[in-house]
Amino acid sequence: MPLSNAIYPGSFDPITYGHIDIVRRAIRLFDGLVIAVVANPRKKPLFSVTERVRIAENALAECDICGVKVIGYDGLLIDCAKSHNVHAIVRGLRANSDFDYEFQMALTNRDLDSDIETVFFMTAGCYSFLSSSIVKEVKRFGGEIKSFVPESVEQALAQKFE
Ligand code: PNS
Repeated sequence: MPLSNAIYPGSFDPITYGHIDIVRRAIRLFDGLVIAVVANPRKKPLFSVTERVRIAENALAECDICGVKVIGYDGLLIDCAKSHNVHAIVRGLRANSDFDYEFQMALTNRDLDSDIETVFFMTAGCYSFLSSSIVKEVKRFGGEIKSFVPESVEQALAQKFE
């Protein structure tokens, strides 16, 4: 079965240039890409799912990325993938520290549905240190985040921390 459409799930709290780099590279490989903003129960997000979807949509528009659908989802990723008829899950991989968690998720998802493959994109070197948590921390304490996120994301963070 060809891997024509893919889903890129994550907390995206908020989306960063690291995520956007993965999106740019994934749309070159797949015919269609859906970004799934997942209500991750393991984390306590700063933004609601609705806010994270809107922030991601604005960020993609600001970066001139068209044709990528952003949805919110609360439930099992595999069910979301099936309901959108995709056969590939895209994930970005940074350092060793990501590996155990990604390995566990990929194997769990394959166990839940072996027709859906997880595909990893190695981070761009310049974003290998970047995470949504770091961005939030730097902004919360008044630091400069222009090289980490698009301006619309920076504004959303500024409003949140007002
Ligand atoms: O950006 P994150 O926080 O690393 O993304 C993790 C995410 C949201 C992809 C993961 O927690 C997830 O898929 N959650 C949905 C629940 C689920 O399907 N769990 C079983 C697979 S581990």
